[in-house]
Amino acid sequence: MSDDRLIVALDVGDALSALKITEALGDSVNFYKIGLGMLTGGGLALANELKHEQGKRIFLDMKLFDIGATVEAAVRGLAQFDLDFLTVHGDPHVVRAAKEGAAGKDLKILAVTILTSLDRADLDACLLLPGDVADMVVTRAARAFEAGADGIICSPQEAALVRALPQARGRLIVTPGVRPVGAALGDQKRVMTPAQAVAAGADHVVVGRPVWQAPDPVAAANAILAELASPQAQAPNI
Ligand code: C5P
Repeated sequence: MSDDRLIVALDVGDALSALKITEALGDSVNFYKIGLGMLTGGGLALANELKHEQGKRIFLDMKLFDIGATVEAAVRGLAQFDLDFLTVHGDPHVVRAAKEGAAGKDLKILAVTILTSLDRADLDACLLLPGDVADMVVTRAARAFEAGADGIICSPQEAALVRALPQARGRLIVTPGVRPVGAALGDQKRVMTPAQAVAAGADHVVVGRPVWQAPDPVAAANAILAELASPQAQAPNI
């Protein structure tokens, strides 16, 4: 039984390798993320095939950032593909422009708050305000929601704080940085389990390597789905 709360990140270099994974996963997984790494490997064609031939849902992780007019034009073009989620950086002018570009389409605009790979030293190097990273994530989430974002991306460790925002009511929280118990961390540092992420307020969890790199991807996906169906994954009642 699939559960759209699980989004599997197809972080392989080309569409053919990705199709092998989706074929193996079959009906267990219904929602896939395609990112910049596959831009030159047929990512958009793959998104189309999975969405319109196979009935899957697609999260296009493009993390767009530019002047408003350019973001709007890029999103208007991408919106023609009738996909489900698209990421932009969470700066208000970018989110507003993306929403204009997606007008009239079902494409949901998700705002990246602060990349989970960045720590305080990186933010200093980017000349971003001093202060606690979690506080900045929550403030950026609030501003992105006020600019019209349908949802935000954050670490599961910030999901509860974002979920508590009045502006988050009815909006989506999507969290990467998710690891089932016992899975290798890879380069992820601040992780939670799928059940913990959902219990903290995430609507969707993005999991990549623990599924597609597993010796048995179907068993790995099914273990996550079982975890999401467990009482530990009780979503907050906000
Ligand atoms: O393999 P893994 O489960 O770590 O993959 C997580 C996916 O989520 C990758 O596609 C990664 O680029 C993405 N992501 C992330 N952290 C962010 C934003 C996106 O891990 N802050």
